[in-house]
Amino acid sequence: MGKGLDLRAISGEMRQVEDLMMQSIGSGGSPLREVSLHVLSAGGKRIRPAMGIAAYFVAGGDDPSRVIPMAAAVEMIHTATLLHDDIMDQSDLRRGRPAAHRKFGVKAALVTGDFLFSQAFGLCSGYGPEVIGVTAAACRELAGAEMLQATPWRELTEELCIQIDGRKTGALMGAGMEAGALVVGARPGERESLRRFGHSVGTAFQIIDDCLDFSLDGSTGKPTGGDILGGKATLPVVHALSRASDADRRLLEDFLCYPAGSDRLREVVGALARTGSLDYARGRAAAFSAAARKELRPLKGSPHRTLLEDITYYVLDRTS
Ligand code: IPE
Ligand code: IPE
Ligand code: MG
Ligand code: MG
Repeated sequence: MGKGLDLRAISGEMRQVEDLMMQSIGSGGSPLREVSLHVLSAGGKRIRPAMGIAAYFVAGGDDPSRVIPMAAAVEMIHTATLLHDDIMDQSDLRRGRPAAHRKFGVKAALVTGDFLFSQAFGLCSGYGPEVIGVTAAACRELAGAEMLQATPWRELTEELCIQIDGRKTGALMGAGMEAGALVVGARPGERESLRRFGHSVGTAFQIIDDCLDFSLDGSTGKPTGGDILGGKATLPVVHALSRASDADRRLLEDFLCYPAGSDRLREVVGALARTGSLDYARGRAAAFSAAARKELRPLKGSPHRTLLEDITYYVLDRTS
């Protein structure tokens, strides 16, 4: 097991984020609350609110109650996208539990995703138009990326994969950071730097997610091999396709074209090992993580700066 992220510097704020999310999903007995609770109470790393809160502090904030609604909103938007993503990916498992659409049905999961989006924007309504604009822009990026992901695998390039990773996951992490800085009234240069930090960390995070899809130890709480078994090629596979021997390329193409059982995933992992593609993708992720760390240089030392620095390493080392 990789080590978890140490959130002690912001434990009080993170508790308030949890309380606010619980409050936002309504009162007992509502089916929307039941589905929301199913996914929210299953855990999740809560890395996005942690980043938003840390950004608020490093930008000079001293009244964290100002940033809590925004941090909760970002996690609720993330959760909404997971509900929708699991429907699109036909994924059975999320955070170690049956995916919501499997347990409650597609309609309930779909509508609960919409509900969480609405509640998230409700939480943002106390902020100025800039925070709302930044958050909405990240949602647009995410939606665009989910569509771009439908690109036939034969047309994918490594750079397109990385662009999808950035728009899918970098955009929301970047928005959370920028919004945290906006709440303090940070100057544009600092806001932009924190946004870039979040975008780079998020891109690294998603590249590692694409690699963890091939981890055979079941540590992720998500189905293993879901991407390739669902016909989806990500960075390691696109890299491998351009370098593999004829036999390995045929193997990968067969997986992308025809249904296969997860019992055969070892064959894919073998092919990716022969082309060095998981190591290559991890190297690309490490470069984004290092780029993020550069953005921290002008900041003076503080527990919140340390937390952001830890996050740049954590996204690479994580196993879940
Ligand atoms: C899953 O996100 C979706 C991706 C962007 C890879 P996380 O890995 O942050 O999921 P949770 O919130 O911890 O479950
Ligand atoms: C990330 O993509 C999903 C969103 C950002 C909505 P994935 O499809 O790789 O996420 P997981 O692996 O299902 O968590
Ligand atoms: Mg998915
Ligand atoms: Mg994934």
